[in-house]
Amino acid sequence: MDTEKLGQSRFMNFIFKPAGASMESRLRRWLMPPKKTLLGADIRPGQVVLEVGCGSGFFTLPAAEMIGESGHLIAMDPLSVFVDRVARKVRDAGLNNVEVLRRDALHTKLEAASVDVALLFGVLPFPTLPLDRLLPEMHRVLKAGGTLAVWMFPVSFGVPNGILRSGLFTALGKRNGVYTYRRSEDAG
Ligand SMILES: C[S@@+](CC[C@H](N)C(=O)[O-])C[C@H]1O[C@@H](n2cnc3c(N)ncnc32)[C@H](O)[C@@H]1O
Repeated sequence: MDTEKLGQSRFMNFIFKPAGASMESRLRRWLMPPKKTLLGADIRPGQVVLEVGCGSGFFTLPAAEMIGESGHLIAMDPLSVFVDRVARKVRDAGLNNVEVLRRDALHTKLEAASVDVALLFGVLPFPTLPLDRLLPEMHRVLKAGGTLAVWMFPVSFGVPNGILRSGLFTALGKRNGVYTYRRSEDAG
């Protein structure tokens, strides 16, 4: 599905628009400080990071802070309500290292081998991000040796096994609830 159709689909808007406020609630921040979770992805200053499904931006600003001014964060979501909200947050915070794109992550249109870390936080499992289509796109955009970082809540529904079965990534470990994988070089 193209971004336009996905962003306007009743299903997406029905599911996610009302969830916007709870995604940023104080309770969530308290239960799950975003920086602590991001530490599990091992993102570093100067890296290019792709955030798939940024939603209302719970992880966006903390991630931008962690990669610093020399880094570049691409926050991506098909819903304009979220893209507009995150773009506003980025502007208000005076950040120059974040690009907010309204786009379907199955077709990122990013250059091949251009991303150091792809964050899949709070987006799996979900029907609009089927692993058999998402993983090849993540493999394509990640640089050699790049990292796929996946945080799932509350249950993983077989996602970690699905990632390994794809043959596109190998497991690195799990920290602060975040599974990390290295891009396989002998695949795809
Ligand atoms: C549960 S929210 C999580 C938002 C954010 N990552 C967080 O943890 O607060 C899932 C997000 O994935 C986005 N999403 C769903 N399908 C997508 C797709 N095909 N490409 C990019 N984002 C998608 C939704 O619009 C929504 O913002």
